Amino acid sequence: MQTLSGKRILLGITGGIAAYKCAELARTLIELGADIRVVMTQTATKFITPLTMQTISGYPISFSCSGKKYSMKHIELAKWPDLILLVPATANLIANMRVGIANDLLSTLILATNTPISIAPAMNQNMYLNRATQENLTILAERGINIWGPKSGKQACGNLGLGRMLEPIQLVERCEVFFQIKCLQGKSILISAGPTHEALDPVRYITNYSSGKMGYALAEAAKLFGAKVTLVSGPVSISKPKNITRISVKSALEMHQTILNHAIKHDVFISCAAVADYRPKTISSQKIKKTDNRTQMNIRLVKNPDIVADVGKLVKNRPFTVGFSAETQNIEKNTLDKLIKKNLDIICANNVACSNQGFNSDYNAITIYEKQKKTQLPLTSKTKLAKAILLYISECL
Ligand code: C5P
Repeated sequence: MQTLSGKRILLGITGGIAAYKCAELARTLIELGADIRVVMTQTATKFITPLTMQTISGYPISFSCSGKKYSMKHIELAKWPDLILLVPATANLIANMRVGIANDLLSTLILATNTPISIAPAMNQNMYLNRATQENLTILAERGINIWGPKSGKQACGNLGLGRMLEPIQLVERCEVFFQIKCLQGKSILISAGPTHEALDPVRYITNYSSGKMGYALAEAAKLFGAKVTLVSGPVSISKPKNITRISVKSALEMHQTILNHAIKHDVFISCAAVADYRPKTISSQKIKKTDNRTQMNIRLVKNPDIVADVGKLVKNRPFTVGFSAETQNIEKNTLDKLIKKNLDIICANNVACSNQGFNSDYNAITIYEKQKKTQLPLTSKTKLAKAILLYISECL
């Protein structure tokens, strides 16, 4: 269930301030199954220690063509990886690559390799926009080197502009795209996300704390893996992801109708929305007024249709159906009950009683249940978790 399982990535670290982010980058690549070796320039060792990179990668760091620290010959290193990722790629490295200078281990192996190379430029905006750097980058791109970034933002020198290195997570995603983790290519996936609003009157509604973050992360991950994605979203404050069809709805009834219309046209339905189980029986056409003699007020609620259960009941063209279960107690029993009762293929249980995960958080931990199987995905960002869930689903299809 790891997107970069078995992929050999050589990180070439050069001397820019963004080098400190390489620890996080290497850690995340390893978490996703990649095998990492690290080569550092002498200047890079002033920004991040070889010991840090050695501890994270689990291998000695190569940074010199001679001396005791030399752990792998440049030709061996040049042949070993599936991808060479140069981070941060300084203006100096980019210029050296254009000319073909080989004056240290990293530049020598860059010349000696036939492996695809990606660079993540990072430098002051004037250095980046300088004609020399721009021309060097154009030539490198023409030679087939992948140029990943930079992006705009606050720079270490205090300037604001183009020249910031892509964040480690964005570089990881570029690696995933590079390795064509297209496990859902040709599949169509319908995802529900966010809360529903159950109107009481023109200005009030009943809802819950769902932010939509998990559903949107699932949509992004499904797209990354090559699926065609339709996202049916309750009211959230997340902008529309690119290259995804989003249908915005408000109430559970609207969501029910939209999902049922689309489910049979999709290979997979992931029911991640926190749909209201009940709605006010009547919606007042005027704002409900506070009156002097009424100290209590009853709102009569009626049950909403259970969307995922109705998809589970489909006889013809039923998609592979994935539920979510948000429980505060008896998680396993309640989740397994839902799996059976709603006729789901799998269900992802999260414990919403923990304050640092689940509803409205950027983090979550999930246990995936099938009838005879239970898989734990420990606490991590919703972005990473979404990928793990989609990989799991792709293996079920
Ligand atoms: O039964 P419970 O609401 O806890 O089940 C959670 C699962 O059911 C989730 O996948 C949720 O999206 C779905 N659900 C639904 N329609 C409802 C209520 C919940 O599809 N009215």
